[in-house]
Amino acid sequence: MSTQFEPILTRNVGVPNSEKIDVYVERGGYTALRKALKMSPDELTAEVRESGLRGRGGAGFPAGLKWGFMPRGDQTKYVCINTDEGEPGTFKDRLLVEHDPHAIIEGTIIAAYAVNAHRAFVYIRGEFFLGIKRWIKAIDDAYRHGFLGQNILGSGFDIDLSVHRGAGAYICGEETALINSLEGKRGEPRLKPPYPAQIGLWGKPTLVHNVETLANVPPIVDRGAAWFRSIGTERSSGPKLFCISGHVRQRGNYELPLGTPLREIIYEHAGGMRGSKPFKAVIPGGASTPVLTAEHLDTPMDFESVMAAGSMLGTGAIIVMEEGTDMVKVAQRIMRFFMHESCGRCTPCRAGSSQLVATLDRIVGGKGKQGDIELLEDICGHIIGNTFCPMGDAEVNPVLSTLKHFRNEYEHYVEHKRPISA
Ligand SMILES: Cc1cc2nc3c(=O)[nH]c(=O)nc-3n(C[C@H](O)[C@H](O)[C@H](O)COP(=O)(O)O)c2cc1C
Repeated sequence: MSTQFEPILTRNVGVPNSEKIDVYVERGGYTALRKALKMSPDELTAEVRESGLRGRGGAGFPAGLKWGFMPRGDQTKYVCINTDEGEPGTFKDRLLVEHDPHAIIEGTIIAAYAVNAHRAFVYIRGEFFLGIKRWIKAIDDAYRHGFLGQNILGSGFDIDLSVHRGAGAYICGEETALINSLEGKRGEPRLKPPYPAQIGLWGKPTLVHNVETLANVPPIVDRGAAWFRSIGTERSSGPKLFCISGHVRQRGNYELPLGTPLREIIYEHAGGMRGSKPFKAVIPGGASTPVLTAEHLDTPMDFESVMAAGSMLGTGAIIVMEEGTDMVKVAQRIMRFFMHESCGRCTPCRAGSSQLVATLDRIVGGKGKQGDIELLEDICGHIIGNTFCPMGDAEVNPVLSTLKHFRNEYEHYVEHKRPISA
């Protein structure tokens, strides 16, 4: 039975001129902000904490807890809107920015008010040309209507927001690399701790949130934490944008409650497999999350259940593969991406990713040797836990998970110098 669900995040998507401020206001936009400005920052933080909202940027960290980590008081603080969206397979933030930028702006102003920050930045992937245009126009209009600037809506609260374009490096989506890039430095990660909420942009406490996370904030303020908790599962509450790509009939963004079964998302919402070939495998949360198989199709798509199945919910980017897909080539293709995107700062990631690609290239090229599979595992073992940022642990997932579920395909390549399907 498919889930009947009233859209929350995508409520304005498809409405003509949904990106325009008049349309947003006409449809109830900025009422949550008016309500929030009458609440105290602590009340707001408590409401978001009680809602159970978890970050939608990949890690699923509780948003209210992060707000609570920001020091109180009048010191300089910042808010950053992470619009880098670099994880392959992910295209949800772009939808929101292009079609409903004011929902994100409203969420950002509320978050800034809750942590008493007066300066916020959009960090957006440089290739998102339309998104950049929409952000700039929406911010201009929000200033004109008194939602941004000095003494917003007569509340005494000041907040400025501007757009910074990145240059398309995957690592700049990682929050500390994003902060370095925003400061005009090379986009390389910083060591954590300290976390950005303690020492972030220009050394000041900084709240970094994903676009989708912030878009959830106005509905929470409007309709309350209990309402939000009634959607999804106990520990993964609220709606989620799932981006489905690959060998399905209807690729695209689907807004559904967290915990919707993977099978339902693929076979009902995305229309099932595209042709006569059956399902073979799925990457459930973006390219850096481990591959799952048909035995995992009944997994509820929430943070805990996907973890229990041996993968991660990540960004909710579901990449579906049909029978006949060469899983060694899948690993090779994704690994090439990570090699290209390694910032090069630490050796295990820089050298390890290129050694993994060289070994995969050899295997796929029909020159695989006995011991190459063990070599792949050995290299992964040297990367895991030994890199400066979480990208190292993530980049080995495609290799290790395809080895776990489809080892026979690797063995066939090494033994017969060709894919199992050829
Ligand atoms: C290699 C790497 C790339 C990342 N890319 C993104 C990204 O493109 N967008 C994003 O929102 N978060 C990304 N993240 C997660 C951020 O570091 C951070 O956790 C997130 O912006 C926090 O927002 P949230 O709490 O709202 O999820 C990335 C993390 C890593 C390790």
